[in-house]
Amino acid sequence: MMKSKFISNLMKPFKFHSDKDVSKEENLEQIAAQEQKVFSFETLVAATRDFHPDNKLGQGGFGPVYRGKLGDGREIAVKKLSQSSNQGKKEFMNEAKLLARVQHRNVVNLLGYCTHGAEKILVYEYLPRESLDKFIFDAERKKELDWKRRFDIISGVARGLLYLHEDSPSPIIHRDIKASNILLDEKWVPKIADFGMARLFPEDQTHVNTRVAGTNGYMAPEYLMHGRLSAKADVFSFGVVVLELISGQKNSTFYLDIDCQNLLDWAYKLYKKNRSLEIMDPTLASTSAIEQIATCIHIGLLCTQADPVSRPNMRRVGVMLSKKPGTTLEEPTRPGYPGSRYRRTRRATVGSSSGSGAGSGSFGESSSHTHNTFASTFNSNSASATTASTSLTSPRPDTRGKRPIQG
Ligand SMILES: Nc1ncnc2c1ncn2[C@@H]1O[C@H](COP(=O)(O)OP(=O)(O)OP(=O)(O)O)[C@@H](O)[C@H]1O
Ligand SMILES: [Mg+2]
Repeated sequence: MMKSKFISNLMKPFKFHSDKDVSKEENLEQIAAQEQKVFSFETLVAATRDFHPDNKLGQGGFGPVYRGKLGDGREIAVKKLSQSSNQGKKEFMNEAKLLARVQHRNVVNLLGYCTHGAEKILVYEYLPRESLDKFIFDAERKKELDWKRRFDIISGVARGLLYLHEDSPSPIIHRDIKASNILLDEKWVPKIADFGMARLFPEDQTHVNTRVAGTNGYMAPEYLMHGRLSAKADVFSFGVVVLELISGQKNSTFYLDIDCQNLLDWAYKLYKKNRSLEIMDPTLASTSAIEQIATCIHIGLLCTQADPVSRPNMRRVGVMLSKKPGTTLEEPTRPGYPGSRYRRTRRATVGSSSGSGAGSGSFGESSSHTHNTFASTFNSNSASATTASTSLTSPRPDTRGKRPIQG
């Protein structure tokens, strides 16, 4: 008795055919739906009060996101993909199913998906503190982020990215790491959101203006200017987030020094004068972890170097983060930003997945040696190691920093 009630509760959020005779076959169908993570449209309508505007959490380049509550009490975030996605229903379902298998403490959990007519919808766990941008760029709310919290966010995001690049069921280059795609749970654990969107929005060969690009201020120059995509593009965006977290400044709207093009330029110039700590958010003034902050600025600069080959990979970033503050690190070369040039003076040893990287330190919690082959192919500047369905024609950035771009 108890058991059957438990099972029927479990089924509630999932597709349910209400024929009079619920045959065994239909029960099996429900179980299959649950396993495949299918939500019925009616469930999502009920959870979001028919996508009520009061429940809208925001709207990015892919469509609106609504907060909702399932019958069993679980809170969800429902992302309605805009109609501009030209992907077929079947492909969408296949990709969503694959992405739902991507699970890590520092990656947002994709609970499932729904298709309804032309609608395509993704269902995520709801993160109560929502996104990092809502704290770090807000004069009052940023005070809630002391240095320990910021450092834990940096480390968590680094772990999540390493997982996506090397250890997830199918390797993923995120392409849009930024403060609004880092969500925080009630314990401030960071979770990377919107991974795998490139798979759900494949390039439309016939409509070249509808494409998934990145966001201004976060995109690596080689990707922005030449469409060259590798995991190092994510490393670049990660470095921007690190420097934003330390300074409390937004790279894309930086105005503190008119002689500097942006936050990266400012941080690099101060670093060269041995004054890098001047970028520190005044809110952090009372912290005693000065050496650790200096190390993180250094890591941010290594990640945002113009030359992708010189940037470390995420495994190496993890190792650097777990080293004792004050440990000597490589010298960063110039940061990259749109229009900046770089001269490659050496083949990088920095980003290699060999040597100091794999498995050492306390960082690589889910490190797996079986992925080393993948990791090493990733380290080249070539686009060959991209997500399966990612097309690599040169993206056209949207000046407003939002995507996909409508033609
Ligand atoms: N799972 C979630 N839990 C809590 N809040 C969320 C969740 N997903 C999204 N949000 C909130 O909804 C807002 C809109 O998200 P959305 O991803 O559409 O926009 P974005 O991240 O600014 O842009 P992009 O489309 O480039 O990712 C986010 O800023 C975030 O605060
Ligand atoms: Mg987002």
